[in-house]
This record gives sequence, structure tokens and C-alpha cells, in this order.
Amino acid sequence: MEEVESRVLIIGAMGRLGYHLAKFSLEYCHPTFILIRDSSPTDPERAQKLHFLSTVGAIPLKGSLEDEKSLVEAVKQVDVIICSIPSKQVLDQKLLIKVIKESGCIKKFIPSEFGVDPDKVQISVLDHQFYSRKAEIRRLIEAAGIPYTYICCNFFMSYLLPWLAQPGLKTPPRDKVTIFGDGNTKAVFMKDVDVAACTISAIDDPRTLNKTLYLRPPGNVYSMNELVAIWENKIDKKLEKIYVPEEELLKKIKACEIAETPYPDNMEMIFIYSAFVKGDHTYFDIKSSGVDGTQLYPHFKFTTVSDYLDTLL
Ligand SMILES: NC(=O)c1ccc[n+]([C@@H]2O[C@H](COP(=O)([O-])OP(=O)(O)OC[C@H]3O[C@@H](n4cnc5c(N)ncnc54)[C@H](OP(=O)(O)O)[C@@H]3O)[C@@H](O)[C@H]2O)c1
Repeated sequence: MEEVESRVLIIGAMGRLGYHLAKFSLEYCHPTFILIRDSSPTDPERAQKLHFLSTVGAIPLKGSLEDEKSLVEAVKQVDVIICSIPSKQVLDQKLLIKVIKESGCIKKFIPSEFGVDPDKVQISVLDHQFYSRKAEIRRLIEAAGIPYTYICCNFFMSYLLPWLAQPGLKTPPRDKVTIFGDGNTKAVFMKDVDVAACTISAIDDPRTLNKTLYLRPPGNVYSMNELVAIWENKIDKKLEKIYVPEEELLKKIKACEIAETPYPDNMEMIFIYSAFVKGDHTYFDIKSSGVDGTQLYPHFKFTTVSDYLDTLL
């Protein structure tokens, strides 16, 4: 029978999101290649992931984003490329973009983003170029005429939600809670597995071609006040609320910079500022900016914030 599913290359398949991307790619019957830097990893988690993916049909290709020859060989074998490398390294995709452009045979590239839309954030002077680097990669892709889909899922649930966006905590608060701004601005939290499943669904979906795919399902969009209310309900206890106005949060962010500890405390507060004060996840209408994953894939049952908070009890 003729093969209809696109052949997919995942870069970063040993990572947290990339592993799920590779699993769903295989589950959805895409011939799946994974570019890996180490074909005999000593790290037990990587070894287990590689063993599992190979067992279920992934084809490992040895290479890296710095090795042009390996990229040329890998790109030749596929129709679609998904990159899932850490945010700090997004500019390392430049060589890959050059190779994709020269190959002329890739029908979709999904760059490493999987977060807040870098063209929409309103905190550009604060973020240590976190978003401008992602935007720079977008402009290179577009200038090269490479077909793309950008995936904007906003926060992973595993980031911030386990401590209810309380900088310095590692578990959700049980006595008092800090609320930044007035607490009414909504942010979006998505489970990384759901992000991976939607990304793979978008591969051969013409509705996502050269578009930004936003994930903003109703059960995943909450303000700080709403999150606290859901949590209070679950623990059956009212928390003491400490409100930190925008100016005070900005002072805290700047104080951390002066102390030369820009990461992670400073970034965590910057992300909180962006989402819960500026409203960078939700201030714009999806229809005028891209396509809505919730509408494209109505059959998906997304893990809700409430489901996730249950796991923290
Ligand atoms: N929205 C959010 O809240 C949020 C949070 C975290 C991450 N993310 C996004 O999720 C995506 C993946 O992040 P992650 O946390 O899953 O990453 P991760 O777990 O750190 O995994 C990164 C993967 O990239 C591979 N890699 C790194 N540099 C490479 C290179 N030069 N050549 C080839 N492979 C390379 C690593 O390979 P090795 O195994 O060889 O090291 C690893 O498999 C990123 O787009 C990130 O922005 C979003």
C-alpha cells in the first residue's frame, strides 16, 4: 500500500517534550527518525527512552545541530522536521534552517518554540532576549520560504503550576499565597503530552500550513484568583492572600538582576509578570493571529488544570 503519512524527523527526542513527540509520531503511523547525539547513552533515562523508541520503530540517526553533514543526511530522508531543543539554544537551529532551505524538499518545519508567542509578548526589554531569539528564528524560516507551523501552548503544566506560580516554593501553598497584579489576568497551562499529540496532528493538516497553532482550551485558562479558588476548594481551606502590585513585582525582578542571579528566580518572575500581569497568553484573539487547536481537534481530551492540581494533593 502507498505510504501516505509524512516521514518525520524529531530533533531532541531524548528530551522531555521531544520524547512524547516521537512516541505520538510513531503512534500516528509516521515513519519516524530521531536525530541523536549519543547512540549509546550511559544516562539510564536516555538509554531507556532510546531503547523504547527503537523498539516501537523509530530510526535513530547519529548527528547534531552543529554537524552539517549529519543534518544534510537526515533532512534527505524526511518530509517534516520538528525541533525540540532547550529554549536557551534556539539559535542553534540556524544551520538546520540553512540545510532545510538548500534541500528544498521539506514540506513542514516546526521549530523549537512550544511556549508563548514570541511575536506577541509585551515584555521585550525584560526577558534577556528569551523571546527575541525565538522571533529571530521565525524571521529566518520565513525569509528562507520554508513551510512552517509554530506551536504556541504557553506554559507547560509542569512549569509553575506545581507550586501555583509562587516563586521560591516547590509545592503548592497551604497557608498563604502571593497574587501578582490584581489576580484577574488569565494564563494558559498545557500538559506537555497534549502539546505533543496536537503537534503531531498538525503535521499533515493543511489548515496549519504557515500558521501559528494556539492551544487555549477552556479548562486550561485561568487567572491567579481562579487558580487559588480551585486550589482552596481542593484542600478545603481558605488561604491568606498577599497582593503584589505590578510596580512592586517589577522592582523585585530588577533587584534580582542587580544581584546577578538572572536565572532561574528572575526568569520565573518575568514569566509570571508576562502571563499574569501583562496577559501575554490571552490578550489577543486567536482567529486574527493563527489557528485554534481546540477547534481544529475537538476530539482531543486535554488534561485540565483541575485534573493536574488533583495530582498535587
Ligand atoms: N512552555 C513551557 O512552559 C516550556 C517549558 C520547558 C520547555 N519548553 C519547550 O519545549 C521544547 C523542548 O524543551 P525540553 O525541556 O523538552 O528540552 P530537554 O528536555 O532539555 O531536551 C532537549 C533535547 O535536545 C537535544 N539537543 C540539545 N542540543 C542539541 C544539539 N545541538 N543537537 C541535537 N540535539 C540537541 C538534547 O539531546 P541530548 O539528549 O543529546 O542532550 C535533548 O534530547 C523547547 O522548545 C522549549 O522551549 C516549553
